[in-house]
Amino acid sequence: MDVFEAIKTRLEIREFADKPVPREVVKEILEAARLSPSGLNSQHWRFILVEGADELKQLAEMSTSGKWVENAALAVIVLTSPKYPWHLFDAGRVATHMQLAAWNRSVGSRVYTGYDEKAMRGKYGVPQEYHIACVIGFGYPKHKIIGRKNRQPIEALAFSGKMGNPLKL
Ligand SMILES: Cc1cc2nc3c(=O)[nH]c(=O)nc-3n(C[C@H](O)[C@H](O)[C@H](O)COP(=O)(O)O)c2cc1C
Repeated sequence: MDVFEAIKTRLEIREFADKPVPREVVKEILEAARLSPSGLNSQHWRFILVEGADELKQLAEMSTSGKWVENAALAVIVLTSPKYPWHLFDAGRVATHMQLAAWNRSVGSRVYTGYDEKAMRGKYGVPQEYHIACVIGFGYPKHKIIGRKNRQPIEALAFSGKMGNPLKL
């Protein structure tokens, strides 16, 4: 898929089909993470792959805003090191890399950031030096993705030369 086409068509989904994601696609998603840029090329992110109905159910039970992950085919917990002031910027980049790589293979995804941190640290063995940046659930969409992104017009977001100046394109 053309990269811009992937950007245009990808919507975050919370309803997943009961269909496994092939191993090669899972590997590709993690490879996209590994290839993501990071500040100073510090590569401080770490990824925990969560798979299997029972494990995903337990992950969902620890969440306050991502209960839908129970029905995903897999999830990736993204950890970052707060030692680097830009660590959350890197988390955003790595999440986008994975999500676009997945969508390139028709696998949808959604991010969540609400969870019982203590429970997550205990279950997944996350040391204090790492921050739990987000969880991304992946799976084939249950429904065909139709619809448009709900986004502001570019004129409200981008300016020419100085904030507030109308955009000239
Ligand atoms: C930093 C961040 C945190 C998010 N947290 C949650 C969350 O806790 N639960 C959830 O269901 N979606 C969460 N989302 C998904 C957003 O709601 C979604 O990306 C946004 O609505 C745009 O969706 P769309 O691309 O389908 O229009 C999060 C997204 C981002 C980027």
